[in-house]
Amino acid sequence: MNTDAVPQTLGALVASTLWLCSQAQDAQDPGSRIAQMVCSACHLVANGQPPPILNPPAPSFCEISNRASASAGSMKRFVMHPHGTGAENTKMPDPMLMNDQAVEVTRYVLGLKGHCHF
Ligand code: HEC
Repeated sequence: MNTDAVPQTLGALVASTLWLCSQAQDAQDPGSRIAQMVCSACHLVANGQPPPILNPPAPSFCEISNRASASAGSMKRFVMHPHGTGAENTKMPDPMLMNDQAVEVTRYVLGLKGHCHF
């Protein structure tokens, strides 16, 4: 076996794995997909998104993720029933998500904490 080729092959393997991971995160993370399809009309949900239609927009997901009060349980409850959890005055309509979708999108929002700038 040609041992000179090993580091090169490993390097290529690492590079392609990293690329695949970044694609998977962008395109296949269910929470990120739901955020982009369901929430982005009102919220900035990711870097580089054009301004939401809602004007003024709802708080960005970056801002929401960095709030001290942000927890998976309370956010999921809010997202499932914005008007039924003590936030009756909220202006957010019920996005009518299924339980799994609320879990995924909540995971996505909280995952932004500490490393987002929008
Ligand atoms: C039609 C517009 C609209 C859509 C669509 C929308 N939101 Fe909102 N959202 C709002 C507004 C407006 C607020 C601010 C509520 C307020 O100030 O009463 C808000 C607030 C929030 C909050 C913060 C609640 C708090 O504790 O202050 C979270 C979390 C949230 N939205 C998540 C989502 C998620 C997840 C989606 C997509 C599944 C989504 N929103 C879709 C308008 C929207």
